[in-house]
Amino acid sequence: MNIHTQIEIKKGISLKPCHTFQLEASAKYWVEVYQPDDILKLMDTPVFHRETRFVLGGGSNVLFAGDFQGLIIKNSIPGIEILSENLNHVVLRIGAGVVWDDLVKFTVDRGWGGLENLSMIPGLTGAAPIQNIGAYGVELEATFVSLDAVHLESGIPESFDRKMCRFGYRDSIFKRSHKGTYLITHVTLKLNKSPEVNLDYGNLKEILVSEGVINPDIRDVSMAVRKIRASKLPDPAVTGNAGSFFKNPVISREKFESLRSIHSDIPSYPSGNKVKIPAAWLIDQCGFKGKRSGDAGVHEQHALILVNYGKATGREVIGLASTIQKEVRGRFGVSLEPEVNIIGEDNAL
Ligand code: FAD
Ligand code: EPU
Repeated sequence: MNIHTQIEIKKGISLKPCHTFQLEASAKYWVEVYQPDDILKLMDTPVFHRETRFVLGGGSNVLFAGDFQGLIIKNSIPGIEILSENLNHVVLRIGAGVVWDDLVKFTVDRGWGGLENLSMIPGLTGAAPIQNIGAYGVELEATFVSLDAVHLESGIPESFDRKMCRFGYRDSIFKRSHKGTYLITHVTLKLNKSPEVNLDYGNLKEILVSEGVINPDIRDVSMAVRKIRASKLPDPAVTGNAGSFFKNPVISREKFESLRSIHSDIPSYPSGNKVKIPAAWLIDQCGFKGKRSGDAGVHEQHALILVNYGKATGREVIGLASTIQKEVRGRFGVSLEPEVNIIGEDNAL
């Protein structure tokens, strides 16, 4: 039973503990929703109609350029429900407020395959479709069935199947034409009861072999992914960050060949008739790794991760990101597009 019967709009809330970059910023108004009906209640308030709105999950992919002069709607819709099950598959409907990695553990513990490569990604389930989260050779879309969302102007609940979401690499319709228009309330995923493991990416296989695992199951894969991630990504609880700051650029084969003729060691991943290149390598080559500008910096172990060493402001981080973009464009002729959602329109990169 849900104990939250009233919605409570709070004023002047610090956003520092609510996002992983841990920047000093505040929100003019803040409200938490625990069930879809709360959104309808919220829509009856003048604040909802008067203020600019922003839907927040775990705050692990946002950068507040400054104070947010509007209403933050924090999604906290709980629950994991089995919708259907047979010998081969299980279909789960998950509340958007469920912590993503709790869901991964829940499924891996039961031997239900599909999410193990996505272990340890911060944030909540409701945000996972927004950029079609991906890691270690798997993207959300592989297990995605549909999502339920409420349209924030009409209050009408709608469902989106996989095709309607128009998933791409770190992309969906919710980052484009439907940006900021819906609050996702539930996500439905189909998992495999006789899973095959996916070890195609990077050094997953090597890690498992080095641990003496010969026939890995999804638990082994999840553990290996956790191990790799813990060794190379900064823990946001210790050092503020939002994971990869930029997307990996996807360029034409022609452009790639011209880059390779000058930089023979450039890493690459074929992606259809295009080539994806690691933004980390481009930034690293420009000498940014470990560099600091005030309290904003480029992580010492990973050039794609911008960090807050304590008192960085959103503007400082954006300034550093902009310098990086200019350098990379000047040296390689490649544009870096932010993966992180920058909140504060006039400060967009
Ligand atoms: P937020 O940061 O709160 O929000 C992100 C965006 O989604 C915002 O635009 C917000 O408005 C929107 N949104 C959130 N919830 C809803 C909702 N219910 N309805 C509508 N809109 C919503 N990402 C990867 O893909 N792969 C990785 O390997 C990865 N590794 C990371 C490692 C670290 C250390 C960190 C800090 C981040 C990493 N990320 C990664 C990025 C991030 O974890 C994911 O994008 C995650 O899905 C964001 O979830 P969140 O709940 O924190 O979303
Ligand atoms: N590299 C460098 N310098 C560095 C770090 C990396 O040159 O400082 C080069 C190396 O050649 C390395 C390559 O970049 O092989 C790729 O690095 P890594 O394997 O760490 O992956 P990534 O491309 O930086 C992507 C995702 C991550 C995801 C991992 C694993 C993007 C933008 N990022 O990182 O997602 O966890 O692959 O699949 O696609 C995120 O989205 O926030 C995120 C962390």
